Amino acid sequence: MGKISLTGDRPTGKLHLGHYVGSLRNRLALQADKSFDEIYVMLADGQGLTDNFDNPMKIRDNIIQVTLDYLSIGIDPDRVTICVQSALPALTELTFYYMNLVTVPRLERNPTVKNEIQLRGFNEGDAGLPVGFFTYPISQAADITAFDANVVPVGEDQKPMLEQCREIVHKFNTVYGETLVMPEIMLPKNERENRLKGTDGKEKMSKSLNNAIFLSESKETLKTKVMSMYTDADHINVSDPGKIEGNVVFSFLDVFCEDRHFADYLNDYKNLDEMKEHYRKGGLGDVKCKKFLLAILEEKISKFREERAKWENDLSSVYDILLAGTNKAIKKTNATCDRVRKAMKMDYFSDKDKIVSEWKTYITDNK
Ligand code: TRP
Repeated sequence: MGKISLTGDRPTGKLHLGHYVGSLRNRLALQADKSFDEIYVMLADGQGLTDNFDNPMKIRDNIIQVTLDYLSIGIDPDRVTICVQSALPALTELTFYYMNLVTVPRLERNPTVKNEIQLRGFNEGDAGLPVGFFTYPISQAADITAFDANVVPVGEDQKPMLEQCREIVHKFNTVYGETLVMPEIMLPKNERENRLKGTDGKEKMSKSLNNAIFLSESKETLKTKVMSMYTDADHINVSDPGKIEGNVVFSFLDVFCEDRHFADYLNDYKNLDEMKEHYRKGGLGDVKCKKFLLAILEEKISKFREERAKWENDLSSVYDILLAGTNKAIKKTNATCDRVRKAMKMDYFSDKDKIVSEWKTYITDNK
């Protein structure tokens, strides 16, 4: 079998540059890689509901926002199948079967779930932990296996999900016979270049922390966000020596700056090392650094904006893309589910003659 990849996003907000460097960029590389036979990207709306069940409009609205985000960065719907999780009934069925293969203590040990329970305060006061949320790693295993995905490109935080999925696959194949494909995680290659801090210097860029730059950011708000970035509190006068470590502007430049940007926007330097050296020594002001970063980000995001505007003017085509992708995914996941039912001896309605003759033999033998 060739390579099949699946990734997903919870449609709970517009995607930002953190998503872009952590995973979307990799997907663009993947779609250019001819060794992949099938590439799926799933809008995990069901998973999004596990901690937003009381806000269905948030999920509904972000189905279109995230789809537009995908299309605007250049995900090619002819190459990548974009589909909606809740419209794939095979996934809930598989989840139902896999639930028998996972214990409560094992789920409790899943570090991502543990961490998220903490973050959402599910175990504080009388909030209570929703069963659906607690068990989402099982449903994510259903997502992955339903598509026969052998490659799952995700960030570091999803490692425990993949481990849990691999355990389920192993257990299933041991109990019911070789049926499910064992998935491999595909992590971003260069950790430093694949992690983006928030504009406030916090480790993670996140919508809820209010420190994100969105892929659909307007020119004006992009400028405001870059110009108010945290730099080095001790770098008061231009002539003062400055620190690179912990300086958000430089951590963004580490990720986005290429040598050609100096020729285009700041020809005082040949490359980022030269610029950093000057900053450390003193004599390079924050405003100049920020304007340089702004030019680089504006170049990138203006392309996304243009592409997005085209799709926004043709929402009927976006609808058709989602529908076609989802229909293709229904077929694919139903086929896996048929295989699973057969392995689990539940293919009662697959072949009338065969089943009736099996019944006959069984009843005769047990008279
Ligand atoms: N849990 C993933 C996230 O929060 C989203 C997701 C759902 C996913 N289903 C998936 C990722 C299947 C990879 C494969 O980002």
